[in-house]
Amino acid sequence: MKIIGISGSLRKASYNTSLLRALISLQPAGMEIEPIRLNGIPVYDGDNEKATGKPAAILDLDQKIRAAEGVVIVTPEYNFSIPGGLKNAIDWLSRGSSPLKGKRVGVMGASDGPIGTARSQYQLRQTLQSQESIVMPRPEIFVSTAHDKFDVQGTLTDAATLERLKKWLKAFADWVEKKP
Ligand code: FNR
Repeated sequence: MKIIGISGSLRKASYNTSLLRALISLQPAGMEIEPIRLNGIPVYDGDNEKATGKPAAILDLDQKIRAAEGVVIVTPEYNFSIPGGLKNAIDWLSRGSSPLKGKRVGVMGASDGPIGTARSQYQLRQTLQSQESIVMPRPEIFVSTAHDKFDVQGTLTDAATLERLKKWLKAFADWVEKKP
């Protein structure tokens, strides 16, 4: 089962990219999550789109999403919302026919705040609604106070979160396989 894993953070030491790495380390047999970062994608501009089309990174991501059975998006929260880079990537992908249409998607996120990206995840769910994605309703993963849950190398060390991720992956595999 091929899954595209998108981190909504651009920074190298990102908790969210680390959370995606933890997911990959726990992926069940038969699941293959390919991690994607969104660095270097220009801000959407309709004039540039007309002149030169979509950026190469978006064309590549579009193909990868189409070829995958599911997508997991691991998002930070910026000012109670989705980071601009992630929204920008979805805006580009949405032009023409969106590869996210009808795609089974899971969302989660980590922040150093107390509610672990709950607000940005719900805004992401709203944006994915516009793409007609089929987003797994639950279980939900809100990794709060991330500074206490990852070590300095970015390894997720919190046992309860690791356990939740395992359960989430099982539910997501079923969701992608459309069970029940
Ligand atoms: C933040 N951060 C933050 N955290 C949160 O829980 N709610 C918020 O609204 C915000 N707002 C916010 C705005 C901006 C511009 C920045 C840069 C940061 C803190 C954020 O959770 C923290 O920086 C995380 O480490 C970002 O995720 P990554 O990059 O570690 O994946």
